[in-house]
Amino acid sequence: MRVDIDRLSRELETLAGFSDAPAPAVTRVVYSETDRRARAWVRELCCEAGLAVREDGIGNIFARWPGEEPGIATGSHIDAIPHAGRYDGTVGVLGGLEAIRMLQRAGVRPRRSIELVVFCAEEPTRFGIGCFGSRMLVGLLDGSELRDREGKSLRDWVGNHGSVRLPKGHYAAFIELHIEQGPLLERSGIPLGIVTAIAAPATWHIFIEGEGGHAGAVLMPDRKDAFCAAAEAALAVERAARSSGAIDTVGTTGVCDVFPGAVNSVPSRVRIEMDVRDIDGARRDRVLGEIEAACAEIAARRGVTIRKQVIHADPPATCDARVIAALEKAAGGMPYQKMVSRAYHDSLFMARIVPAGMLFIPCRGGVSHRPDEYAAPEAIASGVAALAGALASLAND
Ligand code: HGY
Ligand code: MN
Ligand code: MN
Repeated sequence: MRVDIDRLSRELETLAGFSDAPAPAVTRVVYSETDRRARAWVRELCCEAGLAVREDGIGNIFARWPGEEPGIATGSHIDAIPHAGRYDGTVGVLGGLEAIRMLQRAGVRPRRSIELVVFCAEEPTRFGIGCFGSRMLVGLLDGSELRDREGKSLRDWVGNHGSVRLPKGHYAAFIELHIEQGPLLERSGIPLGIVTAIAAPATWHIFIEGEGGHAGAVLMPDRKDAFCAAAEAALAVERAARSSGAIDTVGTTGVCDVFPGAVNSVPSRVRIEMDVRDIDGARRDRVLGEIEAACAEIAARRGVTIRKQVIHADPPATCDARVIAALEKAAGGMPYQKMVSRAYHDSLFMARIVPAGMLFIPCRGGVSHRPDEYAAPEAIASGVAALAGALASLAND
């Protein structure tokens, strides 16, 4: 069995062309016209492969190679945050399709069906929460609470979507192929990473209310500057993550909206979005508690109000031993290392309803969510070959 890496590389190139940012950056936010066209193109590829294609009410795409049920699933996402790269998610979608085509070409006849899943929205860009497609598939969300920055609801975007929920046991196993989005595999020169656990992400939106006023007229002792309070809160996020006692704790303040946003006006309102993660859920929650206490102290000292909205605080996921064993066997002598995933993925949620695993390939410098994100064709080919082997063995289990 051989991966057609030339064709797959061309397809990754074509998919990268569906972007709202100039190359080499990729911006592809779910439900944008660009995203809609990209997903139609991927559906077309799946039809060309002779797969039975369906799309649910919110845009998750399912492309099935029919066989006995429950089947084996693989997949990832093609949506991309602003000014991102071209391999995050797409390697798992187009690589998953190539793994199926490769088995077809080799005349493999899996007993169970094998289904490629294109999750509609792994990134948090549209509604501020990541993985709303897979969260709805596993019943963690019904979607009614989702609003984008303009206040548009999921229903405003897709109409009456109905339930998209998949029952527990809908699949016998799920595997996601993905770039590592970290430097470990490249540093150790190992072509494959077999994921044992996926970190627990939490997102809070923090609203700070101070007092606005004329930048020239309001004297410093009289100020209740919402932005300076927000700046201290962002530093509290960094401090709490750095001092957790473990390298696995990370904290980021990635969004900051300042109102009224004029250079000569004291900020009266600020909204920040913070992301805190850890492979240990209890340690992450301790860090969140420290951040909350720091915000209370900042609010009291500065005479502002600080309110948090918990967008999500998910537990970590443990990958399934049988899927891990299938991936180890499918490595076929290629070196691999077991590792945790510090990024979250749709697998974090699929693991709620199906035995799940992830397979990583190295990306240059560990860089991701940047236009210079890069995965070498030989790295992608190794990942696709191992994925195909694992799918075939699980499908004949
Ligand atoms: O943020 C993440 O971990 C994922 O790449 N959306
Ligand atoms: Mn991403
Ligand atoms: Mn991703």
